[in-house]
Amino acid sequence: MEGDRQRTTPPVPPQGQPQGEPLQLLLHCSREAKKCAYCPYSRFPVGAALLTAGGEIFSGCNVENACYSLGVCAERTAIQKAISEGHTSFRAMAIASDMGDFITPCGACRQVMREFGTDWDVYLTKADGTYIVKRLEELLPLSFGPEDLKKV
Ligand code: THU
Repeated sequence: MEGDRQRTTPPVPPQGQPQGEPLQLLLHCSREAKKCAYCPYSRFPVGAALLTAGGEIFSGCNVENACYSLGVCAERTAIQKAISEGHTSFRAMAIASDMGDFITPCGACRQVMREFGTDWDVYLTKADGTYIVKRLEELLPLSFGPEDLKKV
């Protein structure tokens, strides 16, 4: 099945930062997802892999459009896939591109990530496979989220 290629069920313990093999798998899935990027306009492929609290991985790529503004980033593709299959609790995301520098998510993606909590990790990778890891709180400080709507 088409979907099975990008969705796996690894033996990831249900808490904390992924390490060792589970982390390598998450990074690998982000690189694999990049291969599916539909980016004829920017020619800037991006892949993302999202690890749920339950240990499943949902991956996504950027999907551009001839009506440029309708393009969607890899990070949001992965989140929408996970949400639409019933997963709302996330532990980590890995992002891959062909850049010689660490890929960093755009502001829109940071806000969409933040919707699902501020205490999870984002692995920003370089094309050579090295990475840095940032908490969502670091990527989007002083953020506005669902809790704020209850403060009125
Ligand atoms: N893009 C992503 O998918 N994720 C990022 O983190 C940065 C940018 C996409 C959007 C667009 O399709 C292309 O990369 C160039 O901006």
